[in-house]
Amino acid sequence: MGISTGIILLCFAIAYGADLPSSFKICKMNDPNLEECFAAAAQQAIIAMAPGIKSLKLLPIDPLSVDKVTIGEGGGAVRLKQSYKNIKLYGLSKGLEISDYKVDLPNLIFESNSFNPQVDFVADYEVEGKVLLLPVHGHGRSNITMLNLKTKNKFSGEKYEKDGETYMRIKKYKVKFNPEKVLLNFENLFDGNEALSKQMNEFLNENADTIFKDLQSSYEETFGLVFTDMGNQIFSRVPFTKILPES
Ligand SMILES: *[C@@H]1O[C@H](CO)[C@@H](O)[C@H](O)[C@H]1NC(C)=O
Repeated sequence: MGISTGIILLCFAIAYGADLPSSFKICKMNDPNLEECFAAAAQQAIIAMAPGIKSLKLLPIDPLSVDKVTIGEGGGAVRLKQSYKNIKLYGLSKGLEISDYKVDLPNLIFESNSFNPQVDFVADYEVEGKVLLLPVHGHGRSNITMLNLKTKNKFSGEKYEKDGETYMRIKKYKVKFNPEKVLLNFENLFDGNEALSKQMNEFLNENADTIFKDLQSSYEETFGLVFTDMGNQIFSRVPFTKILPES
């Protein structure tokens, strides 16, 4: 099969709108326990999406690959320009619990709480600036771990038409992270000065809560965009009536 045939077949599949994979739980709009159904369905969907879904051409989300994240200097105790590349986020699906789902269907507003025992943000980093007045710089591998992470999720959607079918897209996804503990590990700080790097990592971990609070809103904004993308990968392929049938 030539490349052009492949593309034609692909367009064909997309034009008719895909079904949700059979591993997904489907909630019906007339379900009297719709919100509980959504909590279970979302949890199941994320676990099913973990290794990727071939039929929908979805890449894995555990680990989730993110191209890059840049965080500006900020004005608080942490004045650190940070850039991360080749990011892998581990743990979004493992031990995931979703609860307290609230849905406002007419306005397409979805709220929930989620819990992850451990999420690791592993990346190539570059940092430059000051942490609590101490100068710090370096580049190498980094690992930011959030333990017992509670997250508040809220997203709003809007409907649109494509090829005679109604789809939903996530317009805005707000995340609020509340980890019980944050562990930081930056290899090769101070361009490989091992002693200084080790000391600074100890210092960073002693102050991990302060550092995290300062950077939290940047992380949350970034993940709001990442989760928007993740959700829209499904919503752009599967028509709304197949995600949420009337009955
Ligand atoms: C990141 O750190 C966590 C906590 O120490 C650890 O469990 C995990 O294996 C680390 N991941 C990598 C890729 O180093």
